[in-house]
Amino acid sequence: MTSGNPQSADETALLELRKEFPILERSVYLISNSLGAMPRGVYNATREYCDVWASRGVRAWEEQWWDMARVVGDEIGQLMNAQPGTISCHQNVTQCEAIVGSCLDFSGKRNKVVYTEMNFPSVMYFWEAQRTLGARIEMIKTEDDVTVPLQKVLDAIDEETLIVPISHVFFRSAYIQDARAIVEKAHKVGALVLLDCFHSVGTMPVDVQALGVDFATGGVLKWLCGGPGTCYLYVRPDLAKTLKPKLTGWVAHEKPFRFDIGATQYTNDTAYRFMNGTPNIAALYCARPGLKIIREAGMERIRAKSKRQTEILIKLADERGWTVKTPRDREQRGGTVSIDLPNGKEICAELLKRDVVVDFRYKAGLRMSPHFYTTDEELHAAVTAVEEVSE
Ligand SMILES: Cc1ncc(COP(=O)(O)O)c(C=O)c1O
Repeated sequence: MTSGNPQSADETALLELRKEFPILERSVYLISNSLGAMPRGVYNATREYCDVWASRGVRAWEEQWWDMARVVGDEIGQLMNAQPGTISCHQNVTQCEAIVGSCLDFSGKRNKVVYTEMNFPSVMYFWEAQRTLGARIEMIKTEDDVTVPLQKVLDAIDEETLIVPISHVFFRSAYIQDARAIVEKAHKVGALVLLDCFHSVGTMPVDVQALGVDFATGGVLKWLCGGPGTCYLYVRPDLAKTLKPKLTGWVAHEKPFRFDIGATQYTNDTAYRFMNGTPNIAALYCARPGLKIIREAGMERIRAKSKRQTEILIKLADERGWTVKTPRDREQRGGTVSIDLPNGKEICAELLKRDVVVDFRYKAGLRMSPHFYTTDEELHAAVTAVEEVSE
């Protein structure tokens, strides 16, 4: 059953896309949870960036660069059913969360920030730092390093909660949080939800409108095969107009090229209202080929294949008596399987030498992430390599 044969016509079509990724010719690449494979098209995209810069110089801004963050934002938005013009692009997720944080006032009674221990630490560091501005932090702990009890999260969200910045899919264990339930509770008591979709958008269908989230963030470098430097911030359009980020700059000004002195006049255009300084144009060029391939692959097809292949990995791990730190219920599991082995860090280093590309995280173990381009044979090869190296 787990031969290299794809299981359906959909999967055959997905495997056709392998040729777009040079690294797949020389390695078993199971690391989309960290850095997705580079599409071949990025060479041309980078050349196009250089050609435009070389030939058009400063005129490039007016001719195409100024609008690029919005255009790429809309391309990302299509993958999460965000309305056009509701996404701005930024350097990283921590910055996106900081922009949201800068819209908030922690001086009143409603000053509580609720998140879980399984959030990505970088964003925790940002929210922790808001204590100096009056924020109270309530962090819900994991009891098994895989999940966090939903009821405990819901119970912590109360009338004094200002915002709930949480991960949709946990980076350590790939557990999918019930974002809908969390948003419902938050909105019932007047709190906001900021959903970190780094490990959901690109591995599974996400609909920010159906979820009703106030903000969503994530980046293209992992599952969207878009390289470092492009992250996205979605803001619910009706809410956007009422927010005034203190982390702001001239790109968010109503008339940026008037260079007015003094306080800013925020634009009502959501894509720009949450931006600040000059966008990272080179990174935006690099992001586009991957986004095009992901659109072509289709989120439903990617998700179906991911469920099947993560199940294969779990089965192979079980057969060898390895500890799996990922939900067994496929509906609660994102795209990664974490396998906790003694000496996991050393095993990981050996695997990399053999061109089996995975990573190791404390309290998770080896993280393995099949993506739409992964064959079943590669899963078997990776597991065999782990076995050989462990011995
Ligand atoms: C869930 C999640 N959020 C955020 C980040 C990264 O944050 P930043 O873009 O600020 O480096 C990661 C991982 O690299 C992550 O797994």
